[in-house]
This record gives sequence, structure tokens and C-alpha cells, in this order.
Amino acid sequence: MLRNMASLTVRQLDDALKEQLRRRAARNRRSMEEEVRAILRSAASDVDAPASPPESAGLPGAPPRTETATRRILLIIGGGIAAYKSLDLIRRLRERGFGVRVVMTNAAQQFVTPLAAGAISGDKVFTDLFDSDSEFDVGHIRLSREANLIVVAPATADLMAKIANGHADDLATAVLLATDKRVLLAPAMNPRMWSNAATQRNLTQLRSDGIAFIGPNQGEMAERGEHGVGRMAEPLEIVAALEGLLAKPKAQRPLAGKRVIVTSGPTYEPIDPVRFIGNRSSGKQGHAIAAAAAAQGAEVVLVTGPVALPDPSGVSVIRIESAREMLAAVEKALPADIAIFAAAVADWRVVETQNQKIKKGSGQAPPLALTENPDILATVAKSASKRPALVIGFAAETEQVIQHAKEKLAKKGCDWIVANDVSPESGVFGGDRNTVHLVTASGVESWPPQSKDQVAKSLIARVVQALEKKK
Ligand SMILES: Cc1cc2nc3c(=O)[nH]c(=O)nc-3n(C[C@H](O)[C@H](O)[C@H](O)COP(=O)(O)O)c2cc1C
Repeated sequence: MLRNMASLTVRQLDDALKEQLRRRAARNRRSMEEEVRAILRSAASDVDAPASPPESAGLPGAPPRTETATRRILLIIGGGIAAYKSLDLIRRLRERGFGVRVVMTNAAQQFVTPLAAGAISGDKVFTDLFDSDSEFDVGHIRLSREANLIVVAPATADLMAKIANGHADDLATAVLLATDKRVLLAPAMNPRMWSNAATQRNLTQLRSDGIAFIGPNQGEMAERGEHGVGRMAEPLEIVAALEGLLAKPKAQRPLAGKRVIVTSGPTYEPIDPVRFIGNRSSGKQGHAIAAAAAAQGAEVVLVTGPVALPDPSGVSVIRIESAREMLAAVEKALPADIAIFAAAVADWRVVETQNQKIKKGSGQAPPLALTENPDILATVAKSASKRPALVIGFAAETEQVIQHAKEKLAKKGCDWIVANDVSPESGVFGGDRNTVHLVTASGVESWPPQSKDQVAKSLIARVVQALEKKK
């Protein structure tokens, strides 16, 4: 071949090499198609994967695609323990009609195999920047062009550092540097890696570069005995985040142009510098409401007490501790169109907070005189000049839930009360599910038990309806 090539012009040589690459690509494509079909046949019984591989979107080496996915995700799997969850993410995305194409870093392949990811995605998995099958037509550019959105899950500390600094020395980072699509990162790492100054610096840089984040969450790590912020967001949380990013432009969403204040979490009322009166609120419901309002295009200010939750994306977060700080933050955030008070605000605070830690030893427990905290809901609902058009309160009750909520609606001057049973047996405080009753002037609606995310979405859907009616 080389002997024959010696007499060719540069142009002819180039064409001959391209033809050679094309032929090799076709050979590999055929064998890859057969491999994927075989895997899908054997996996069909125990993996929830499609019975036939999807029709090719045209990338050399990709098996044919039969689905008509209009929303295409490029999933980049990084080298972390959470890589196994990305297989479930592929499945969840495909269940929802997304076309999924996968790129794996070298390190990712130490945790899950391209074969497994390919069997579930129904497509070739791309691993190599210098892959002659796909790179003869600049495959890394094409991988980005043919996707509507790029998700990196798990996003390792290493990948975050490389993306933040514009590296492109493997396929994953080359795609990410070459893309003009939205990029969503789902970081997963040891809590100390996450809180390391370098990672936090990269996070700030990536955020300012317009990269979206989901998680990491707080919880148990895969390593024994490790706990903290660093767990990858669950596959369904990642799906929700990317659906949010793919949603209509903000200006076309139903709450575009509306300002929403949401309060969330507990308040801590100080006794002395180290002790406080608090409650068991996790903030999950309030944070979910803030996220749901932002997803519908609202400008959201979330005023939150101390919680162990990541900030919802696209929301301005103001952190406070006490009820009086929460009221001050809410008043500062006014005016607003809608206010939703989901925080569990302490009813009382200690009259005299001690500047030094109270010592035991006098033989007597210190007297804790309490005084009532300001009523944030009533203050805002009765404000003459700054009352939002729609004011919604939450009522956390342990008995006679609906009766107490009706009384609260009348007393506080708000428009709706969302009442929930927070008795210990209900598992609402700290749990992921909620059973609520929506109490309005026109009656009581009892919603079925559902996730707090779903409660949030339903509540925001009702808010949208109410605003439509007012038009
Ligand atoms: C057992 C094991 C688990 C690891 N888990 C993580 C992890 O969860 N997150 C992370 O950022 N790095 C983790 N690493 C380190 C990465 O694998 C390493 O930084 C690698 O270079 C990342 O490559 P990539 O970012 O190109 O995928 C782990 C390493 C090992 C050996």
C-alpha cells in the first residue's frame, strides 16, 4: 500500500487514507452492531433495556436507532464509585423517551464497563479521543452537536478541575470544551474532596462559566463510615434537573416575570453561644417549592433556616438562623407577587440570650423565660403596602390538622394554608413524602400521599392556575 502511495499527490494520499479509515469504520460498525444486539438479546430478560438498538443518528460506529428521540442527552461518566448509578440514570432517561449517548473516561471504565452502558443505552459507547472510527470526521465535535444537553455524572473532582481550566486531553474534556450546549454536572466525591479549597474554587469558576449543577447531596458515602456532602444526586433528581434545563426559555414559562419568596427549614433561637431551641424541620418541602417555582420561570428568593440540603438551582438563597432574622430577610426581599411560608418558625425565643455559655453547677437549672416570636405569615399577609397578591402559609399540626388549619387561615389573613400532619408517626419531618390538605376560602382539598417534590409541583401548578384566573 505504501509503495503504491509513494507516487500519489498529497491530495490523493489524503483521499486514500480517508477511504481506508472509512472502510475500517464500516467493519468496526458491523461488529459493534452485532455485539450490542447480542447483549440486548441476552439482557432483555433482566435489564429494562429496549428490545432493539435505536436508529443511528449518524455517528460512525453507532448501531442503527429505531426510536424517534427528539431530546438527546450526551452522558459523560467520570471515574467515581457513583458511576454504577449512571447505568440507572441511562435507564431512567430512556424510559422518558430521551436518546442517550455515552462517553466514558478511562477511569470510569474501572468502575463500569462500556459494554454495560452500551447495552442499556442501546448505542455505541465512546471512550477514545483518538478513535479513527469516529475522529476522521471530528467525532468529539459531532458528539456535542448531536446532543441537546450534556450531563456529567458522576462529575469527579478531577473532571471539575479539568473543565474549569479548559483541558481537552481526553474525549470527555474535548467534548466539553468544544460544546455550545448546556452542561449539567452531578458531582460525586468524598466530602473532604468536595470541601477542599481547590474543588470549591473550581465550582465557583464553573458556575460563573454558566455550568449547571445538581447536588452533591448529604449522606452516607460508599466508603465505610464516611458521611457528609458528596453523594451524587439520585438519578431521578438528575433527570428533573436536566428536564428543567431543557424546558422552554424562562421568558415563556408561566411564572416568568413573577417574584416569589419562599421560606424553608427550621429556625434556631439562641439560649447562649452554644445552645439553641430548634425543631426537626429538614427544609425538604420548602426547598422543593422554591425549585418548582424556579422551574416555572419565577424569580425565587429562598429564605432558609439551617438545613443540610444543597441550594436549589436558579434560586437566590438567604441563610438565617432565628425567626427575627427570617422576618427581616423576608421584609427585605419584598415586594413580591407570591409568598409561600413553608419554614417551621419557632413560636418562642429566650427573653435574655446569655453572652457566655451557661455553666452548670449552681445546683439549679437555669430559668428560661420565653417570649413570642414575630408572626412572619401574619405580618406579611396583613401588610398594608407590601402584601403579595398570593400569600400561602403552612400549618404543621400533630392533631386536628384540618380544623387548626382553617382557624389559622382566618386568623393570619393569608389566602391558602397547606396543612400537614407532622406527628412522629407521620414521618413528615425529615422524610421525603408528605400528605397535605389545601385549605382555601372555597374549601378543603385533601391530596394523596406523595413525594415532597410532587407536592411542590402540584402547589406551584395551583399557583399558576390562580394567577391565570386573576388575569
Ligand atoms: C476506588 C476509587 C474510588 C474513587 N471515587 C471517586 C469519587 O467518587 N469521586 C472522585 O472525584 N474521584 C474518585 N476517585 C478518584 C478518580 O478515579 C481519579 O481522580 C480519576 O483520575 C478520575 O478520572 P476522570 O475524572 O477522568 O474520570 C476514586 C478512585 C478510586 C481508586
